[in-house]
Amino acid sequence: MKPATLAEARRWGIDQLAATSPSAAIDTDCLLAAATDLDPVQLRAWPETPLDAAAWQRFRRSMARRRAGEPVAYLLGRRAFMDFELTITPAVLIPRPETEHLVEAALEQPTDRVLELGTGSGCIAIALARAWPDTRIDAVDRSRGALAVARGNADALGITSIRFLAGDWYGPVTTDRYGLIVSNPPYIADHEPEPDRDDARFEPRGALRAGADGLEALDTIIAAAPRHLRPGGTIWLEHGHRQAPAIRDRLAAQGFSGIESRFDLAGHERVTGGVLEHPA
Ligand SMILES: C[S@@+](CC[C@H](N)C(=O)[O-])C[C@H]1O[C@@H](n2cnc3c(N)ncnc32)[C@H](O)[C@@H]1O
Repeated sequence: MKPATLAEARRWGIDQLAATSPSAAIDTDCLLAAATDLDPVQLRAWPETPLDAAAWQRFRRSMARRRAGEPVAYLLGRRAFMDFELTITPAVLIPRPETEHLVEAALEQPTDRVLELGTGSGCIAIALARAWPDTRIDAVDRSRGALAVARGNADALGITSIRFLAGDWYGPVTTDRYGLIVSNPPYIADHEPEPDRDDARFEPRGALRAGADGLEALDTIIAAAPRHLRPGGTIWLEHGHRQAPAIRDRLAAQGFSGIESRFDLAGHERVTGGVLEHPA
């Protein structure tokens, strides 16, 4: 039966998601706000507002999809990252909070030339472009669907300093040298069960899986980095929480120095970087 008010709808929603979502109240607020064209603060401020039939239909439909596990970001079509908002579709990975640590590390050493490998929604390239408006950024992805989303996100935010390139890692950028290479590549081994978050079931496999040991993409990126960096250039990489020692070893083997790993909010080594004084 249709709930009469926003408060009743909210109670119904939380109850519906209690068994399947660890964030039942937040999910309900976001989906109810979208269905009623209000923001979550307004929902809570006016709990006795009547719920109309059309909003109820929209809410019920999105709640059914959420109950089946579909991520809220795909249902809403957007996700906040750093201090801006992105359009998100199932063609792209949903940006993670961990990746904000990668951006923060990369921002420590300004440069006028950046290469981002595996741009997805464009979240990393766009964050760097907003911080460094005079920097020229190349952002590569092999998924044309992802590149369309990333381009749309850059356009919507008025960013013109990013060149979006389709191809396999360094394939489209053979001639340039960069002051920074940054990447959050796929890093989950093919045989590993779905990662910690249920969302991954709905995300593009090509954004998550990286061969038998999960290091295939990181290996490729690290091995060729010395041919694409300037002297003194830096690399910052996101990786799985057990992969940091392997990444440090591989960076050292390619001649990087000043190698360090950073922790995510869960206390895992999640991001590793280094400096290359003498490129190939
Ligand atoms: C983990 S997602 C990261 C997306 C985004 N940068 C983020 O942090 O949310 C990895 C991205 O790498 C792209 N990718 C996977 N293999 C690739 C390859 N061989 N060459 C270029 N891009 C690739 C995927 O399409 C996906 O968009």
